[in-house]
Amino acid sequence: MAEIQAIAVLGAGTMGHGIAQVAAQAGYQAFLYDVSRDLAEKGVRKISENLKLGVDKGKVRPEERDAALARITPVDDLEAVSRCDLLIEAIPEDLSLKRSLFKKLSELCAPTAILASNTSSLSLTDIASAARGPERVVGMHFFNPVHLMKLLEIVRAYQTSDGTVQAVRGVGTRMGKQMIEVRDRPGFASTRLGVALGLQAVRMLEEGVATAEDIDRAMELGYGHPMGPLKLADLVGLDVRLAIAEYLYKELGSDAFRPPQLLKQMVRAGKLGRKTGEGFYKYPASGS
Ligand SMILES: NC(=O)c1ccc[n+]([C@@H]2O[C@H](COP(=O)([O-])OP(=O)(O)OC[C@H]3O[C@@H](n4cnc5c(N)ncnc54)[C@H](O)[C@@H]3O)[C@@H](O)[C@H]2O)c1
Repeated sequence: MAEIQAIAVLGAGTMGHGIAQVAAQAGYQAFLYDVSRDLAEKGVRKISENLKLGVDKGKVRPEERDAALARITPVDDLEAVSRCDLLIEAIPEDLSLKRSLFKKLSELCAPTAILASNTSSLSLTDIASAARGPERVVGMHFFNPVHLMKLLEIVRAYQTSDGTVQAVRGVGTRMGKQMIEVRDRPGFASTRLGVALGLQAVRMLEEGVATAEDIDRAMELGYGHPMGPLKLADLVGLDVRLAIAEYLYKELGSDAFRPPQLLKQMVRAGKLGRKTGEGFYKYPASGS
């Protein structure tokens, strides 16, 4: 495997901008791609805000911030990422969308380029089968917010080669992440457990067991979770959570993953959590 120098992140939303940030801070050239230039630039603005906060808190040196920002290029043309050594996809949780992007990327990029997906639950084996050279497809599941969360879950598709896993482990180490390696099963390790808890919390709210605040406090104070399950769902995005629940319910057939009515209604009403200013909680406008 060639040494990884340039990383492209596809999708500049909640996860994509965070992944591009940690890539740039780890010293890689980072390209942040989205379907429009505006969206890609919005992602870079968010990175700049994150880094400013880091500087204000004394966690990032001003020269580190400047060097990281100088390594990031926002793009809206796929050709611009065709020479990257590692491409990390962070587009919406939709299998056909991801398969179509992996097919395109595998035709556009060098046969040695590694193609990774940040999917939270979808089958890597299915995504890999759409690509030319499926042995170079792998899951790199980052956590939100990417620059703060230590875990990187590496998911091995049926086709993934050892060399591919070794290469992304190297990248994860350079990004300062701690890694776990899991087989390609619906929801892997982290999502399967986390979503089961999150959906149960929504059902309890629906039943009137307690308020959102108290359900969250139960897990924060009683179990030492840094953030309760409803706050976490707001952070992830309720649309993202719903898509994952539907997929896990279909794949695993367990009632634990049946999407609660309340979650469906909130998504239909556009209450998607932090990103829309309201979910289980209300959030002041961020100005972005
Ligand atoms: N939100 C989380 O907390 C979280 C955590 C871990 C993993 N994930 C996974 O990461 C992925 C992205 O989730 P997100 O929350 O960042 O979503 P998001 O909706 O915030 O961002 C998705 C971005 O992809 C862009 N996009 C859509 N189609 C595209 C295409 N064909 N090519 C390029 N860009 C395209 C959109 O314009 C948007 O900017 C999903 O697979 C999700 O399951 C999310």
